[in-house]
Amino acid sequence: MCGIVGYVGREPAAPVLIESLKRLEYRGYDSAGITVLNKSLETYKTVGKIADLESILPEEIVANVGIGHTRWATHGKPETRNAHPHMSSSISVVHNGIIENYLQLKEKLIDLGYVFESDTDTEVIAHMLNYKMYNGKKKIDLLTAIRETTRELEGSFAIAALCSDEKGCLVFARKNSPLVLGIGDDGYYAASDVTAFLKYTKKVIYVDDHEIGAVRPDCIEIFDPKGNLVSKETHTIEWDLEAAEKAGYDHFMLKEIHEQPTAIQKTFAGKLMELEGTIKMDELYLTPEQIKHLRRATIIACGTSWNAGILGKYLFEKLAGIHTDIETASEFRYGNPVLCGEELTIAITQSGETADTLAAVRSSQSYGCRTVAITNVVGSTITRESSSVVYTRAGPEIGVAATKTFTAQLITLYMLAIYLGRVRGVLSAEEAKNLIVNIKRLPGQIQKILNRKDKIKECAEQFADKRDYFFIGRYLNFPIALEGALKLKEISYIHAEGYAAGELKHGPLALLTDETPVVAIATKGHTYDKILSNIKEVKARDATVIAVANEDDTEIEKYVDEVLRIPQSHEMTAPILTSVVLQLLAYYTALANDCSIDKPRNLAKSVTVE
Ligand code: F6R
Repeated sequence: MCGIVGYVGREPAAPVLIESLKRLEYRGYDSAGITVLNKSLETYKTVGKIADLESILPEEIVANVGIGHTRWATHGKPETRNAHPHMSSSISVVHNGIIENYLQLKEKLIDLGYVFESDTDTEVIAHMLNYKMYNGKKKIDLLTAIRETTRELEGSFAIAALCSDEKGCLVFARKNSPLVLGIGDDGYYAASDVTAFLKYTKKVIYVDDHEIGAVRPDCIEIFDPKGNLVSKETHTIEWDLEAAEKAGYDHFMLKEIHEQPTAIQKTFAGKLMELEGTIKMDELYLTPEQIKHLRRATIIACGTSWNAGILGKYLFEKLAGIHTDIETASEFRYGNPVLCGEELTIAITQSGETADTLAAVRSSQSYGCRTVAITNVVGSTITRESSSVVYTRAGPEIGVAATKTFTAQLITLYMLAIYLGRVRGVLSAEEAKNLIVNIKRLPGQIQKILNRKDKIKECAEQFADKRDYFFIGRYLNFPIALEGALKLKEISYIHAEGYAAGELKHGPLALLTDETPVVAIATKGHTYDKILSNIKEVKARDATVIAVANEDDTEIEKYVDEVLRIPQSHEMTAPILTSVVLQLLAYYTALANDCSIDKPRNLAKSVTVE
């Protein structure tokens, strides 16, 4: 997730762009840049925050037209050459999204003589615009060039572009990435979201998918995919700036929970090969021979990422037939791990900076193990220290409690397990296809849960005064029970424990009373009958049971006090849906207790000390 802005008006463009980018910094903050257009294009970019960009700008920049970008790296490390805008002589481009076919396009453009300066997918857009405008059979204008270019792009994009041969004109295009235009008294604005220009205007036009257009000093033109000029409604924004940054949500955590349908779509974009029944995982850099000979995998992680890792263990063992150990990073180094070179270490860390995980990775490498990092942050330390990196691509997460990065990690682990299972011949193409179909259904199923969140809120409020909670689940639901408990304790400060349901009778049952709600994950699957028995054990101790169950399960109601529903789903993918329910349960419990949800006491987003 990145932020783009554009301005065409009467005011000096640079200060407007900088101010707008500051408002978008929450969308990404590893590098930034602007291009302004006066007599020619002037581009300034740097690694770091918008303040760093501001500090390298000359005192006075004379220009009333410009584009800007704040980056959250998806392709290529956070380096100045990878920062936007990207240029192709007289053209400058900013882009938010992912161009999935950029490698094919890049090859074509290299054959045509274009020289690439960055590792980004965006640079192909700049060169393609240049090629269309100047090297085609006849010279065309920038607007026609963006129409022709976007027809060849696969993936998602919100683009703004300038050309020094078309002074006063900014063109834009959108597909599956947000883009909104602002109409101010002193000019027009384009941005990834309204926050960028809310200081200047509250009048906005939402650009729809597949629309392109031009912003000129005196008008905005928007065209549908057939090239027809469309007339669009102007809306008035009623939020203030702070609310707008959170897109109207009260907290970043709630916003990030709601972003999960799109976040996980980005995680699996371009990777699910449904027809072939496999996964595209080129970034692993493991040969089929190496994969077939893998003897063991060790997953290393902390906190929420460790919970994801437990599910990863089950998936690798079931789908890929690889014996897998899961280790808490902070303990790993101080044990005596028995590792050898034919093993794989998988480090899961959303931030890529967790000191314990980094130290554990270094330790495993000292045994000659290959390390695969699963992370959300391009260019983070783990990416520099691992043999290969699989990015979760969930976009920046601001709330301290991990939500969308957790479900993105789970999706990544499913994909990795399917890929390894197919290469090792453990998983058939049919089985893989079935899983892929079910992964593809998840965004819609998550959306259904989000649409019905009021029921979860009611339930959270009903039990918000309890001081101890238990979360129980079996098999794939066990790590989700751990994660549900972790979410609740970190943001609501309520004591909560996650347990493998079968373990309750080995001790914790002694703690259960009518004051200890038990959240039981009872979704359909081969452990369903077992969890029903565990629920009965709990009920016999007078504890209140809140079940998470499938929407068609009418039997469960007989045994429990409350039921929170997930849509019908495959047993293997249901844990992702349950995670969303438990995130919302934690969120609304914390809200009812008036806790500091985005910044819980004593916690930090990135734990860089051991
Ligand atoms: C909880 C949470 C933490 C992190 C842990 C590891 O919501 O976010 O438990 O999971 O600090 O962080 P990463 O994944 O960045 O290594």
